[in-house]
Amino acid sequence: MFPELTGEISSRMMFHGKEVVIWSINNYLGLANHPEVRKTDAEAAKKWGLAYPMGARLMTGETPLHKELESKLAAHVYKQAAAVVNYGYPGVVSAIDALLSRRDAVVYDAESHGCIIDGTRLHIGERFAYKHNDLESVIHNLERAKKWTDEKGGGILVVTEGVFGMRGDQGILKEIAALKKKYNFRFFVDDAHGYGTLGEGGRGAGVEQGCQDDIDVYFSTFAKSFACTGGFLAGDADIIQYLQYAMRSQIHAKSLPMPIVEGNLKRLELMLKHPEYKDNLWRIALKLQNGLKERGFDIGDTNTVVTPVYLKGTPFEATQLVHDMRESHGVFTSMIVYPVIPKGMILLRMIPTAVHTDADVDQTLNAFSAVSEKLKAGAYQDTVLNPVLQG
Ligand SMILES: Cc1ncc(COP(=O)(O)O)c(C=O)c1O
Repeated sequence: MFPELTGEISSRMMFHGKEVVIWSINNYLGLANHPEVRKTDAEAAKKWGLAYPMGARLMTGETPLHKELESKLAAHVYKQAAAVVNYGYPGVVSAIDALLSRRDAVVYDAESHGCIIDGTRLHIGERFAYKHNDLESVIHNLERAKKWTDEKGGGILVVTEGVFGMRGDQGILKEIAALKKKYNFRFFVDDAHGYGTLGEGGRGAGVEQGCQDDIDVYFSTFAKSFACTGGFLAGDADIIQYLQYAMRSQIHAKSLPMPIVEGNLKRLELMLKHPEYKDNLWRIALKLQNGLKERGFDIGDTNTVVTPVYLKGTPFEATQLVHDMRESHGVFTSMIVYPVIPKGMILLRMIPTAVHTDADVDQTLNAFSAVSEKLKAGAYQDTVLNPVLQG
C-alpha cells in the first residue's frame, strides 16, 4: 500500500483526512501550485489537448516551442545546445547508453541514482564504480579505465551527480573536473537536485562549484525545481545533436506534449524573474538544518537544501517512529532503512521548499525532539501503533 497525499500541493497536505506538514515532495521553488503556473498549464491544455504533437521528435514530434524551450535552457546553463527528454529517468539511461561504445569505459559514483546505474548496465564495454565522492577511488578507477581504453582504443566517460538526493552532499565535480587534463575523459553530470537550488540564477552545481565549462553533458529533470515532467540535456551542439538522433528512449517514444513544454517555459521564466524563490528555499532549509543541529541531531554532510536526519534503530522502529511523527505530530517524512543504508540506521530524508513556513519548521523540530526521545527510550520496540502492520 503506497502513501496517498491529497489536497492542494503545498507544505501542508492531507493524509488519511488529516493535515500534515510535507517534507517528501520535489517542489523546491514552490512552483507546483503557483497561480501563473496553474494558469499556463490549464490554458495550454485547453489550447492543445494532450495529443499534440504526435509521434517521436525526429519523426513528427517537432515544434517551435520545443526548440524555444531548448534554446532558453541551453543559454541558462551556459551551453551551446539542449535537448528535452520525455522523462528524466529514460533520458539519462539512454544518454549514457548512446555516449558509450564497446571500446569505451564508464567510471561512475557507486551511490549514483538508479538511472545512472541502469544506464551503465546497458554498457557492453568496461564499468568502474568508485567509492562515493572519494577522490582517491576516482583516480584509482580512472587509472584502471585508462589502461583498458588504451588497449581497446576507446574513451572514458565519468558520470556523477551534482547533488546526491539522499545524503544531500554535492558531487565532487570540481575535483573530478581537475583530472580531465590527465585522463582525457568526457564528464556527465546529473544535476536533478542542483538545478534551480544551487549556483547563481539556479544554474546548478557546476556553476556553484565554478566548473560548468568542464561538464560535457549536463542533465536536469523538470520534476524537481520545476515541479513538472520531462528533463533536459545540455552541452556542445554536436554532442546534443548526436544524442537527439541516438537516445533510444527518445527516438522510439513520443515527444513531450505541448502543455508540458509551455508549462516548463513558464516555470523557467518564473525562476529567472524571481530569485527570491531560491532564497526562501535556502532560508527554510537552513532554519531546519540549524534547528536540527542545535537539538543534537546528526544531519550528515549535506551542503545543499536536502536534509537527512540519521537515527539509530531497526526497520520496525523506523516504521513506528514515522507513523507516530505523522499521527501524533502532523509531520510527514520519508524513511530509508537497510539495505539502502547500513544495518541499524534510520534515515529520514526531508526536502524543503520555498513555500514551507517558519511554523512548519518549528512544528517539525518539536516533532523530531519528541520522537527521538521515545526512540531512545525504546518506546517503538514493541509499541505497535498501527494494527495494520501486525498483519
Ligand atoms: C538524480 C536523479 N536523476 C534522475 C531522476 C529521474 O527524473 P524523472 O523523475 O524526470 O524521471 C531523478 C528523480 O528521482 C533523480 O533524483
